[in-house]
Amino acid sequence: MKRSTMAVPLAVFLVVSVATLALAAEIRASSRDRFLEVSRSGFERAAEISAEGISAGYFQWDELRDLAASGELDAANALLADLDDGFRYALSGRVEAGTPPSGAWEFVAEGTELRVRFPLRDSDGGARAEGLAGVVELDAARMLAEAAPGGEVTLVASGGRDFAFGLSARVMPLPLQALDILLSALIGVAVAAPVGMAARRHARFFYESKGLETIIFLFEQSDRFSAHHSRNVGALALFIGKRAGLRGKRLRDLYSAALLHDIGKISVPTDLLQKPRSLDAGETETVREHPVAGARILDNFWELSHLRDYVLRHHERGDGSGYPGGLAGDEIPLESRIIAVADVFEALTGERPYRSRIELAEAFSIMRAEGLDRDLVDLLEGRVSDYPAFQLPRWARASRA
Ligand SMILES: [Fe+2]
Repeated sequence: MKRSTMAVPLAVFLVVSVATLALAAEIRASSRDRFLEVSRSGFERAAEISAEGISAGYFQWDELRDLAASGELDAANALLADLDDGFRYALSGRVEAGTPPSGAWEFVAEGTELRVRFPLRDSDGGARAEGLAGVVELDAARMLAEAAPGGEVTLVASGGRDFAFGLSARVMPLPLQALDILLSALIGVAVAAPVGMAARRHARFFYESKGLETIIFLFEQSDRFSAHHSRNVGALALFIGKRAGLRGKRLRDLYSAALLHDIGKISVPTDLLQKPRSLDAGETETVREHPVAGARILDNFWELSHLRDYVLRHHERGDGSGYPGGLAGDEIPLESRIIAVADVFEALTGERPYRSRIELAEAFSIMRAEGLDRDLVDLLEGRVSDYPAFQLPRWARASRA
């Protein structure tokens, strides 16, 4: 595809792929947020269950409360020595001076550490000891490891996101994976491909109608006679092609190639083309270069370059006597063989500056002698009486000036 028609689908591909990738990144980011939420909830629940158990097991214990209240802190702390045996998240506990929390417990975060403070109460949950609090260090890292076992969340002293009880945490970014990128590219291609095809169709349609019209107009300016001949050959080729079973794009391509079959004559001096006498050997050689020149011209119009072989081979003959390649039989594209029949028929039965028109019967006899495709000549001869009433289809009329 040419650069001009590549630009639109390429832009669409990039925009769609980048947008899809951004959406994938957004989905990853939101799933990261959800992951943090789930981890936080598990962490809080583990901490609260621990606090509740420690409160009931140690800090609503008459003996501990009474020892502490009577100033025997060492003895009270000795009772807390086995705390870590009963509670998997408890590291250590102690009684210290300070204002006890007003509720059953309070969490205190410091850096990445988490403590729980308790009031000291009797076994009925009353008689708070004033000026004293039980403090238990919780294993925050272990609680987090169990709430987010993949290690995606880590506690940080600062700079993280709000986590639980005033702690900060950092969540590992969930990077875009190869699958996200592949999927984005595939969606980009899926959207861009039809756009590309539409752009290509549009360009081809332009060349097959408007562009073709322009080329023929320019051809006409340089050689009115040849251009008139080409239009007749186009119509005749279409007439023969339809009856030979060609349809759709193949028929349109045949018509375009027939219109352009002599475009290479642009490179032949006009006085040679219009000479009312036979050409000498050198002049004949010059005129015979026009199929190669025509193919070269079409090579420069990518939208028409697929027609180049039809133009290049329109002077080949089924018996191998033609030029430029001396191809024979099926080596010559069907389209070129149809154009050749239309070309010779039009040349023989049309007016020429150097002779009058030839009768149909004689024309067909000459055509057979010239090595043209016999089946196509027979076909044309059998149907030629229908030709005067033949109407060009609407799409072909559009490319006539
Ligand atoms: Fe020709």
